Amino acid sequence: MEAKYIIGIETSCDDTAIGVVDSNHHLIAHYKISSSQEQALYGGVVPEIAARYHADRINLAIQKTLLEAQITPNQIAAICYTNEPGLPGCLMVGQLVAQVLGDLWGVPTIPVNHIHGHIFSIGLTQPIVFPFLCLVASGKTTALYYVSDFLNIQLLTQTGDDAIGEVYDKVGRVLGLDYPAGPLIDQLCDANLEPINLAQQSAAHKPFSYSGIKTATINYWKKIDHTPQNKVLLATSFQKWIVHSIMNKINYYSKVHNVTNIAIVGGVAANQSLRQTIANSGYYSMLVKQEFATDNGAMIAYYGSILYNKKYNK
Ligand code: KG4
Repeated sequence: MEAKYIIGIETSCDDTAIGVVDSNHHLIAHYKISSSQEQALYGGVVPEIAARYHADRINLAIQKTLLEAQITPNQIAAICYTNEPGLPGCLMVGQLVAQVLGDLWGVPTIPVNHIHGHIFSIGLTQPIVFPFLCLVASGKTTALYYVSDFLNIQLLTQTGDDAIGEVYDKVGRVLGLDYPAGPLIDQLCDANLEPINLAQQSAAHKPFSYSGIKTATINYWKKIDHTPQNKVLLATSFQKWIVHSIMNKINYYSKVHNVTNIAIVGGVAANQSLRQTIANSGYYSMLVKQEFATDNGAMIAYYGSILYNKKYNK
């Protein structure tokens, strides 16, 4: 039986996630167990607790994925795992499992950078058009990359302080929303409202910065009545500011690098307003499918299978 399937293991934060692709990089199955609800009790991810959930659940996640894919270990050609960046204890669970299975099954293990996994997550559902600018926006990362091919990924700029998802979560907590608050703020927003001017936008050539808008939004909330209408108005104004800041940066770097293909990935790429704005912007947009915007094993399997081909099937 030909060994042609590639497994991806993602354990960098609070998602224990597994994916399987075939030799054409097509996704066969994926499965994820998140500990975000358990972490919600603490208002954010507690690294030690997240690592323990990975250790408890990774076996089940792998079994479920292989069952759904209807494949057996002798059909697996390689095991990919997220090696960086991420919470050290969490990453170690994924790496250890990958290496043990790799040795047992006699197949190579391939480390995959988590950010690169996100960047190429667009390839799970659409052809990738190079070169492209890629916004990676999650709870930990806010960065813009110039990607000329699968191995050439250049960081253009990143946040000098908070990440966008982190700011969504912190603002949401003050507004009384559960963690993760990004999707909840997104649902609250009313695009027809005229936004409050919460803070000045910084110049497009400067690094991303989100601590100012976070503080401005929280301070504004402290000064007004906590009515449902005010909550919607503040959420909408905050979100409009964020989307505007992203578009400023994309417009600037698109001109500097003369590139009009734009990809948006990471948890914040699930944001409805951001998706609509970029889709209507005139750029050729490659938006990660919502299902693969937050951390997942499919993207690790996908990009890992590209790396595997480059290394073993030249
Ligand atoms: O990629 P991800 O799963 O990894 C991290 O844990 O960083 O991203 C999760 C982040 C959270 O901060 C969450 O609030 C944010 O993505 N997020 C959103 C939306 N959906 C998830 N932020 C804004 N709008 C959304 N619809």
